[in-house]
Amino acid sequence: MSTRDDSDRPTRAEVLDLAERYACPNRVRTLRALGVDLVVGAREGYRLWDLDGREFLDLHLNGGVFNLGHRNHELVATLVDALQTLDIGNHHFPSVERALLARDLVELTPGMRYAVFASGGGEAVEVALKSARRATGRRRIVSVSGAYHGHTGLALAAGDERAAASFLSEGAPGEFAHVGFDDLAAIERELASGDVAAVVLETVPATIGFPLPSPGYLAGVRDLCDAAGALYVADEVQTGLGRTGELWGVQREGVVPDVLVCGKGLSGGLYPIAAALLSERAGAWLEEDGWAHISTFGGAEVGCRVAREVLAITDHPATRGHVRGLVDRFADGLAGIRDRYPDRLVEVRQTGLVIGLRLSHPQGGMLLTKALYDRGVWAMFAGFDPSVLQVKPGLLLDAATAELALERLDDAVSSLPAGTAA
Ligand SMILES: Cc1ncc(COP(=O)(O)O)c(C=O)c1O
Repeated sequence: MSTRDDSDRPTRAEVLDLAERYACPNRVRTLRALGVDLVVGAREGYRLWDLDGREFLDLHLNGGVFNLGHRNHELVATLVDALQTLDIGNHHFPSVERALLARDLVELTPGMRYAVFASGGGEAVEVALKSARRATGRRRIVSVSGAYHGHTGLALAAGDERAAASFLSEGAPGEFAHVGFDDLAAIERELASGDVAAVVLETVPATIGFPLPSPGYLAGVRDLCDAAGALYVADEVQTGLGRTGELWGVQREGVVPDVLVCGKGLSGGLYPIAAALLSERAGAWLEEDGWAHISTFGGAEVGCRVAREVLAITDHPATRGHVRGLVDRFADGLAGIRDRYPDRLVEVRQTGLVIGLRLSHPQGGMLLTKALYDRGVWAMFAGFDPSVLQVKPGLLLDAATAELALERLDDAVSSLPAGTAA
């Protein structure tokens, strides 16, 4: 028996009203004020349609959730097939699906020994930070101001101070220290206290607009952590799974962290799953206490099956080759746009397909979000730096759609006011 009745499906305006009333009032009001009144209906590949049938190219991908496209056909087939025989599974017992996915993740990730599954990135960050505390017997966590690691307890406190303070969740005095991005000396000062469990870093921080780490910064953090006996936790929720051109962003820098957190695209956009990958030292607790951390939905079996297929597609030589072509095309195309409008687009920050466009106008990222929206492209400004637009093309984007995206970007940038900031 189906409970679905399409006859009384709400319209786009009705959904916005319902959401504003019952779910997320401020968010709906803010988006409406910006002129972005999207309610996603159909979706396929790297395209979305709103409920009224208006088409958008998706250059946001929910931070990489739709890295391999919306409703990727191979992944949908994998999930449908898994559902013939599997469900979430029993989290107390070993399972075929979890065991195989754990093996694949560990074998693909230098320095790692164990995989602990979670239902989302924030939960996986909790596992990472708890593991660091247990491994070191220390509490203090060092992270970057303006970072984002999720909205759960430790993850929220490790992220930007303002976001944690708004929920009175900054942790005990001294428990969390925040330093500027790319400031090795500041990390060294914090580590000098000798009580730091972990330094947690997004490899390229999303919410402050994907600024590029200076050459040697991440390797420097690695060395400082080693000298201080602290763990280096790499949050690769946005930069993992091929988005930087390597499977993991840290591999571009030749850095091996103690913990690597992945999520978002691991789900294939179909079944929530994330993982904290732990080194021997970080995961020693797994040898000592089999129930020290439990998650009912973490590592759901049907999700594991999809995630293994995600890894197979992402790491396939054909995908890697295609990504190299896309990276070059975006580098070229964006350099052209910057050259044509140097008074508007002042900086292209590109790490593979992880891209931030810094506009001269202080609100330029926000203005560009709207200009693109009006031109049928969905891409979003950086939450803690509205002068930057995040651009996140998918790994399997076809050449024609990449051209269309660049044309619309060019047109949208040309429509912006020149800004005041240098
Ligand atoms: C870098 C980073 N870490 C962690 C998270 C949290 O992931 P989730 O929303 O799945 O909890 C996010 C989500 O946007 C993220 O971008």
